[in-house]
Amino acid sequence: MINKKIEEALNKQINEELYSAYLYMSMASHFDAANLQGLGNWMKTQAEEEMAHAYRFYHYINERGGRAKLGAIAAPPVEWASPLKAFQDALEHERHITSCINALMDLAISEKDHATNLMLQWYVNEQVEEEAIAGEIIEKIKLVGDSGQALYLLDKELGVRVPAMAAALTAAGE
Ligand code: FEO
Repeated sequence: MINKKIEEALNKQINEELYSAYLYMSMASHFDAANLQGLGNWMKTQAEEEMAHAYRFYHYINERGGRAKLGAIAAPPVEWASPLKAFQDALEHERHITSCINALMDLAISEKDHATNLMLQWYVNEQVEEEAIAGEIIEKIKLVGDSGQALYLLDKELGVRVPAMAAALTAAGE
């Protein structure tokens, strides 16, 4: 059985992950509107991954005899001054999520909750990857500079990452 303190903290993290999905979906919409569908697809895929992160916590809480509870999700920004600014915001957000995961890990350790500690290790690794990828894209966008042609090619490159759920719904005409 999960202790209440841990249950409450993990439920807060569900909200953080769902806000992350919301943020990336908003960035996707921003890019789609700017005819940068590759960047939009990349962000939609990211949003779907965040949903999966939320579900992972959801299942874990319920599996341990707790109850996943959903709170209100804050509204994300809707516009970004440039692709660079959007990805800089994404990186800053991922750093925030990393600090949340680290705080959860500190709590699991202080509460001697070994199962939660083990579960969180997946997120610790995931955050290393999330920050690294956002950082890599920022460097690529900096190389692009003011070149429209280079941005077009980067859009194509990032568009290779196809959002499975969004693509299935679009194909089904929904
Ligand atoms: Fe679920 Fe991108 O952190």
